Amino acid sequence: MRFRERCSLLGIIAAAAAVGLGTAAPAQAAPAGDVQPYIVGGTRAAQGEFPWMVRLSMGCGGAMYTPQIVLTAAHCVSRTGPNTGITATVGTVDLNSGGTRVRSTYVHRSPTYNTSTGGDWALVKLASPVSGVPTLPIATTTAYNSGTFDIAGWGAAREGGAQQRYLLKAKVPFVDDATCASPGGIYNDLIPRAELCAGNMASGGVDTCQGDSGGPMFRRDGSGNWIQVGITSWGRGCARPNAPGVYTEVSTFASAIADAARRI
Ligand code: ARG
Repeated sequence: MRFRERCSLLGIIAAAAAVGLGTAAPAQAAPAGDVQPYIVGGTRAAQGEFPWMVRLSMGCGGAMYTPQIVLTAAHCVSRTGPNTGITATVGTVDLNSGGTRVRSTYVHRSPTYNTSTGGDWALVKLASPVSGVPTLPIATTTAYNSGTFDIAGWGAAREGGAQQRYLLKAKVPFVDDATCASPGGIYNDLIPRAELCAGNMASGGVDTCQGDSGGPMFRRDGSGNWIQVGITSWGRGCARPNAPGVYTEVSTFASAIADAARRI
């Protein structure tokens, strides 16, 4: 497997456990003081602002794809098959209060992940549908794979930082594949059709980070509705200049995702 600074599943589980974000343990306290580092370079999301956002207990994000299926990253899950070990928290920005907690029953991991085709996506089927929570439609064409994107998650607010209790959000500009790959290093591994880059190329400062993986990157479509264009996948560190965030290019995998969702 080519080396990339992705999070390994073991690393994700260790990080989630270290901050007590399991099903029973309390999450980390809200940041105090007036310097509040959020997502990286973001702000707190309002309750209900991104109602389809999901926190998964292994320490990843996700989005409601159907009322009973969460779309997340392949690198957040181990393998395809029955799986009752994941808890999804849905419907609250505060991991310590409100919302609904539902266990998983089955995981489908993209069969093309870790191949030259790429495809860092997975589906988590829940034990029961979550009511009162809208789903986030995914992009089926490349029409929205540019512009300014929204990102959100409970991951670290700075490189090496702790997981967050409250959902954080930020906006990041699209970075084209050639520019994204231009710094060399691990970005030489970029798979143009499978991956979409976003971030401030020259200055950095705003990004997803560890623990945001699996969460959606999204924007408004032509009718003003939210549409998911990316899945948080990897990057070199977080929010560094010349090191954009890399997201699964959802439109490339939209039909594979839909097919898998029909089968599970
Ligand atoms: N792989 C990380 C995770 O599992 C996400 C890293 C995103 N990094 C970035 N610089 N945008 O949470």
